[in-house]
Amino acid sequence: MAETLSFNCGDCQCRIKTSFQRLKVIINGEDRPITTSSDLINPQASPDADPPVLQVWGGYPLRGHVKISGAKNSALAIIAAALLCPQDCRIRNVPSLVDVTRMGQILLSLGVKLEQHGDVLDINANVIGQSKAPYELVSQLRASFFVIGPLLARLGAARIPLPGGCTIGARPVELHVRGLQAMGADVEIEHGIVHAYVTGSNRKLKGAKIYLDYPSVGATETLMMAATLAEGETTIENAAQEPEVIDLANFCQAMGAKIRGAGTNTIAIVGVRSLHSVDYTINPDRIEAGTFLVAGAITHSELSLSPVVPDHLTAVIAKLRDIGAQVIAEAPNRLRIIPEHSLKATDIETLPYPGFPTDMQAQFMALLTLSQGDSLITETVFENRLRHVAELNRMGADIRVKGKNAIVRGVSILSGAPVVATDLRASAALVLAGLAAKGKTTIHGLHHLDRGYDQLEMKLLSLGAKLQRLPNSAADADSRSTSNPVSIHQRD
Ligand code: UD1
Repeated sequence: MAETLSFNCGDCQCRIKTSFQRLKVIINGEDRPITTSSDLINPQASPDADPPVLQVWGGYPLRGHVKISGAKNSALAIIAAALLCPQDCRIRNVPSLVDVTRMGQILLSLGVKLEQHGDVLDINANVIGQSKAPYELVSQLRASFFVIGPLLARLGAARIPLPGGCTIGARPVELHVRGLQAMGADVEIEHGIVHAYVTGSNRKLKGAKIYLDYPSVGATETLMMAATLAEGETTIENAAQEPEVIDLANFCQAMGAKIRGAGTNTIAIVGVRSLHSVDYTINPDRIEAGTFLVAGAITHSELSLSPVVPDHLTAVIAKLRDIGAQVIAEAPNRLRIIPEHSLKATDIETLPYPGFPTDMQAQFMALLTLSQGDSLITETVFENRLRHVAELNRMGADIRVKGKNAIVRGVSILSGAPVVATDLRASAALVLAGLAAKGKTTIHGLHHLDRGYDQLEMKLLSLGAKLQRLPNSAADADSRSTSNPVSIHQRD
């Protein structure tokens, strides 16, 4: 029996219970099985009138060990890359996340076979029934646009809706498109749909020399996947060097692809005729690990985490040490954080890897609100990724925003408040702030959190945090009656 995951749809908030094998929508409390692909992509559920909230009681020290899950961003690219292979792909250490489920749904909608058993995902893309991905799914998960590379490489054609912007920025895809054109694809964009196709008798992409104006993670991944089955050699210059690009390259190499230089700024790919079956384990999630390191620092708690790749966290560890926390590599795949009681301010600028990750900016901002002195945070990767400032200020933080800069003046105390998560990492920042604040923080907008953290609440509960997820209406009633946790439930 496949595992079942319950989540709120990102756009309309309808409740969806899903697994890769079996899907059902819950309408007014009744389960309705999904029988057609249009059900799958267009569930006619009414909006959830009572979305859940997360209540966090601050001031409880954490203690213990956290098991870090597989990397979300690796999993999304690797699931897309399974489209390159006509044989069985077994992917291990797949995190249980709404975004991962959505990527699975994209493959299902293309006619690919998927089966999930715990954190193992089996994919067989021997038959790809169609080259068109549905708008309803692509618009909910930007990373699903990355399937354009493998689809073009396998079928010589792909029709993918433009994913559009999201809460953190406009997020264009012209670098993906220009690279595919350099490899010989014709690309037309009509009515919001990117139609890419390769002409010629064998409908194969051709190797090309591609320079990326910016080291985009997604564009590097799209083009690397496309090049694995192209004729001849492709080089990608000014490529992204993120660990997830290396993870994807390792997965493709394990299927027989010829790739050199992943993890540097120049990647060379020699196309092969076809790829073969693979059994691959995804790397641990460096952003989840970084988030738990900040949880230790902000609550002045000693925590250990594994498995991790400490080298993937160099910039994050350097900043933690800078502000006065000890981070010790206890074993090659295990880190321990031992924070000082009082932490100091520091400056942070987000940059492509190996610079400080934009995906850790919000969590560090939460930490710096309680560090002594003034910190300057500069967000250079996304143009609209400071929306959590208003929510942190609502909890008593002192942060001013000027353009892409946020000036954080450390305060001695945060106080719990109702707040709204504005994006995935912002939601994690609010949980962290809530763990350190005085009193109760109620976080709304949990669909963001569920996109990217595997069992965050269970992991925090096991460390001694006090938190509970409950329907908004129950939280309202609860806040009228008491400000202490009555019962702590774990997520189903
Ligand atoms: C990936 C990660 C995301 C992370 C981001 C930056 C996944 C699924 N998501 O997103 O968590 O925050 O890297 O580390 O891996 N850009 C363009 N044109 C393009 C493509 C990108 O201008 O064609 C710009 C973007 O608008 C953004 C910057 O480049 O300002 C970085 O984007 P990119 O590296 O592509 O991020 P993603 O791959 O979308």
